[in-house]
Amino acid sequence: MNTEKLRLDQAPPLSIPTAFFLVAPASAAVAGLLLLVEGGRLLASGWVPGTIALVHLGTLGFLGSVMIGALLQLVPVLAGSPVPRVGLARLVLPLLLVGVGLLVGGLLGAGQPFAPALVQGARLALLLAFTLFLAPVGLALVRSRSERDTSWGMRLAVLCLSLAVAAGLLMADGHGGGTFPGPRGTWIQAHLGLGLLGWVGALLSAVFWQVVPMFYLTRPVPPPARLAVLALLAPGALLPPLALALGASPLLSTLLAGPGVVAAWLLNPALLARAISTRTRKRPDPSLRAWQAGLAIAPLAALVALASALSADPRWPVLLVWLVVWGHAGLIAHGMLTRILPFLVWFHRWSGQVGRVRVPSMRSLLPDRLAQAGLLAHLLSAVVGALAIGSGLSPLARLAGLLMVATAGLLLAELLVVLRPRQASALG
Ligand code: HEM
Repeated sequence: MNTEKLRLDQAPPLSIPTAFFLVAPASAAVAGLLLLVEGGRLLASGWVPGTIALVHLGTLGFLGSVMIGALLQLVPVLAGSPVPRVGLARLVLPLLLVGVGLLVGGLLGAGQPFAPALVQGARLALLLAFTLFLAPVGLALVRSRSERDTSWGMRLAVLCLSLAVAAGLLMADGHGGGTFPGPRGTWIQAHLGLGLLGWVGALLSAVFWQVVPMFYLTRPVPPPARLAVLALLAPGALLPPLALALGASPLLSTLLAGPGVVAAWLLNPALLARAISTRTRKRPDPSLRAWQAGLAIAPLAALVALASALSADPRWPVLLVWLVVWGHAGLIAHGMLTRILPFLVWFHRWSGQVGRVRVPSMRSLLPDRLAQAGLLAHLLSAVVGALAIGSGLSPLARLAGLLMVATAGLLLAELLVVLRPRQASALG
């Protein structure tokens, strides 16, 4: 068992993670509108610039902002090492917004004379945003003496994000009037593995080994099993880009990603699902349902990853990214927001007043029915989107877009309800 203590006293001000969390519904709304307007054209192949725009509204706008906000909170608490100059995060947020906005605008405007300038502007803004985020967080993780597996998982995630961002920035030059750094398919494959397995996979695994037992009163995932997940994830994410850099064949680098796929989308989901089945408190909880749905989607992603390695149909990689970003990780991130935000708000606003005034309970900060509605809309949009990709039917793609907009609206309502100021009442 891990005996290191959680250092909640080192957490940053509440306004820092919450500002990032509020970007998630805005990004989902723009992605949904894009799908509503463009329809199935965006779900037919990953080579279309509009599809790349949609993907990054998901990976940088939705998942990225939630994960950056969460890391700023979790590095000090779980790794026991404060993020130096954490106030810089207030610059990261506008730079990220401008960067994603320009990237999306430049990709959607592909072929127009102004598009390359937008993409180049996006590269600059994103370079600054990620440098200002990764340098202090990386430093905190290097300085941390924590040996808990969660800290190693966060270190792996941050390393993979740095490499994914570097590859993304180099590739974006190809859309900004410059040159593409090498064979397109192999670069995308390396970038995708670093982003989805290394960054998203490692962070979800590592953080939730701590969070699931704490929030749902489950047995912990056994330490040897966590070690196995990390031991498969690290080579699965890092070896394919290395092999590509050394000139290995695309087939070899696909095979090298295999252990990462097994760890992120089969082994760890199975371990977490098993842990959840041991929970002692049986009260239904919408965020737990989101967990279960997100975990159930992960093995499908593993199957689709295999299909996209074996088949030349361009819809397989689109389905893979859709399932991982909006289905598996997206649902879990949405579910966690409905649990973590009430916890953070309660901790920052009320924990110091317990015993002095009547404080609201954490559960009362977000009505279950609102969280249920948001998570149901999210799950439905993920299912309809997957059917749209499989069938190629544009009306289904537009319906998925509409459901994404509804999900975004409900998620915004969930966050605002929790953040709304409340008056304390006297005891007795
Ligand atoms: C500064 C950050 C990033 C930039 C500038 C960037 C840029 C790009 C570019 C230009 C492409 C398309 C390459 C081509 O034209 O073929 C691409 C593809 C992709 N990127 Fe990123 N990326 C970034 C971060 C990320 C992150 C963090 C993730 C994952 C969490 C990610 C996931 C993907 C995926 C899945 C694809 C494949 C898209 C498809 O098949 O349509 N990216 N990225």
